[in-house]
Amino acid sequence: MQKLFIETLGCAMNVRDTEHIIAELQKYKNYTTTDNIKEADLIIINTCSVREKPVQKLYAEIGQFNVDKKQGAKIGVCGCTASHLGAELIKKAPYIDFVLGARNVSKISKVIDTKGAVEIDIDNDDSEYDFAQYRNSIYRASVNISIGCDKSCTYCIVPNTRGDEISIPPEIIINEIKKSVDNGAVEVMLLGQNVNNYGKRFSSPEHKGYDFTKLLQEVSKIDGLHRIRFTSPHPLHMDDEFIQEFASNPKICKSIHIPLQSGSTKVLKDMKRGYTKEWFLDRVEKIKSLCPTVRISTDIIVGFPDESDEEFSDTIDVMRKVDFAQIFNFKYSKRPQTEAKEYTNQIDDKVASKRLDEVIALHKEQLAESSQTYLGQTMEVFFEDLSYDSQVSGFSDNYLRINVKTDEKYSSDDLLGTFRKVKIIKTHRTSLDGMIVD
Ligand code: SAH
Ligand code: SF4
Ligand code: F3S
Repeated sequence: MQKLFIETLGCAMNVRDTEHIIAELQKYKNYTTTDNIKEADLIIINTCSVREKPVQKLYAEIGQFNVDKKQGAKIGVCGCTASHLGAELIKKAPYIDFVLGARNVSKISKVIDTKGAVEIDIDNDDSEYDFAQYRNSIYRASVNISIGCDKSCTYCIVPNTRGDEISIPPEIIINEIKKSVDNGAVEVMLLGQNVNNYGKRFSSPEHKGYDFTKLLQEVSKIDGLHRIRFTSPHPLHMDDEFIQEFASNPKICKSIHIPLQSGSTKVLKDMKRGYTKEWFLDRVEKIKSLCPTVRISTDIIVGFPDESDEEFSDTIDVMRKVDFAQIFNFKYSKRPQTEAKEYTNQIDDKVASKRLDEVIALHKEQLAESSQTYLGQTMEVFFEDLSYDSQVSGFSDNYLRINVKTDEKYSSDDLLGTFRKVKIIKTHRTSLDGMIVD
């Protein structure tokens, strides 16, 4: 057997692409994975292009791979940076053996045997490709429901790396979930850049009219599947029908990522996000009123071109109103092939850093406060990881990480892979401690 070392950067879609790459290489090329780069026959970096810094660091990292690798080992660059830099990567670092774009994962077996291969076609349609099976977790399955993105947010490079949006046919999605449930999964994470735009474009016309709400209904009929999560929905497509389904379907976990980006309607307009501050808050209010236990996470960009102090204070205002459970916050990063890179009023880095610090500080405060409210509550937890110090760890439906100490009554073998009622006895900022009550 040959050995594969693979490093994954970026979002959940890249993590899933890595699973697909491993699956294909295991099935067709007799590879197994290794964490030791020195013993690898094939070294892959699955890259992200969304911000500039990791891209700048890429050549140094691949250079190091070239030093560390054993003689004859191949090096491949996959993912979004592969899509946007293409052949330039090999030109600058000739020891790269192949370049495989984010939308070309199905060609992995072909490129590893073709020195100098560059497969970066963003029109490639993987939507009906029957990938081999491999998952990082026994209990959770990530399943793509769409590829690409049809939006044109002015800061974002993703439509140029992943191409136009295509919805994967529902029967392929359902089959993939059924297969993973047969192999032990209890939870599915449905993946796409805008999951609630599902159904916008299928490669074949027979599914016309099938939307995300219908997909959620069909997925929830799968026996043995207990929890459904998805990422990311787009605030613009959060219609009442979707929110109703989210609230009333007991298999859909009451935790949702709603990417805000900015709280200012003016900045949102410059970003071409398609919604206003008021619309975002209205959707959040509606969700909260129907699901009182819901926890909402988000993405925030600070220092977008022309963002004034007052406009930034709208972001802070939305943070105060929503009380996000988790925030992925970023300083705006100028990206090639995007509209915003041409905007003349780019914000000084010091100003952006100050705004970022403000977001982080407020969120820290909010987390400390909200975690207190869980003390004494009882919630259902699915245990999935062994944690340090004889603890097992799992998540509630609304995505709180909860740790429980094992003892004579409950060993880790008893708890792992089971749902248990847990009473919260101690709170930390990003996790809770509990004790089993059933
Ligand atoms: N489809 C998802 C986002 C995918 S990219 C959505 O619409 O929300 C993941 C996150 O990276 C984005 O939500 C955004 O917050 C961040 N991001 C994208 N481009 C960026 C840029 N140029 N600078 C800083 N952050 C960026
Ligand atoms: Fe990027 Fe916008 Fe598409 Fe999200 S919706 S991937 S932010 S272009
Ligand atoms: Fe994801 Fe980064 Fe590509 S966020 S879609 S891996 S640019």
